[in-house]
Amino acid sequence: MSNSTAWSLSVLSDTEIMAQSIIFIFGGYETTSSTLAFALYLLDTHPDIQKKLQEEIDVALPNKAPPSYDKVMEMEYLDMVLSETLRLYTISDRLERVCKQDMEMGGVFIPKGSVVMVPIFSLHRDPQYWPEPEEFRPERFSKENKGRINPYVYMPFGYGPRNCIGMRFALMNMKLALTKLQNFSFQPCKETQIPLKLHRKPLLKPEKLIVLKVVPRDVLITGA
Ligand code: HEM
Repeated sequence: MSNSTAWSLSVLSDTEIMAQSIIFIFGGYETTSSTLAFALYLLDTHPDIQKKLQEEIDVALPNKAPPSYDKVMEMEYLDMVLSETLRLYTISDRLERVCKQDMEMGGVFIPKGSVVMVPIFSLHRDPQYWPEPEEFRPERFSKENKGRINPYVYMPFGYGPRNCIGMRFALMNMKLALTKLQNFSFQPCKETQIPLKLHRKPLLKPEKLIVLKVVPRDVLITGA
């Protein structure tokens, strides 16, 4: 077999390139910014957790050193905080799959072509799997505990061959943004809606904008 028959190159058309770019912007922008907003809301309503995270950041990046990829990815508590944020506020509250063939599962017949919905939001808050599911507890994702989590009840980025293609990029990006807590603290103010009410349009969003007070940490330290 000659090389020319072994390899066939398929080239994306301009429309396909444009479609892919649009899906990356839509799939990547709001998901990331909303998750970050939820994370900051949770941190501002849990000052002890915010302080613990700041302590980890200060140790990893002493004297407000700029973050590097390795340092950011090594931060264990940061990963726990983000994982727990994604459990409580899973931006895509459900997954959908089309059944490729007639089948029976757990006594339920599913005809070919049916749309099967996986209720991620409900699974993430099911007390059968998450004790006191409404509580923000990053410890659920500690090294000791995360191995016990059933991957089918925690799917903020979906599951299987069509799961989120941007997952690693998104996690890195959000962790990088949260290292800014080395310079700022977040506190509630009178406009902060507590408890937060949620809205689905179609991604999970807060009913009202999340408004927080941002305080430079130097000001806190000097008491100025
Ligand atoms: C917090 C951030 C994000 C969350 C929570 C999230 C969540 C998800 C979920 C739940 C799915 C469906 C997966 C499935 O059906 O199993 C998905 C798919 C997808 N996401 Fe993300 N995503 C995020 C960020 C991003 C970013 C940054 C990008 C691109 C730069 C991206 C691009 C995509 C694409 C292209 C798909 C479709 C994949 C396919 O159908 O094969 N996402 N995402």
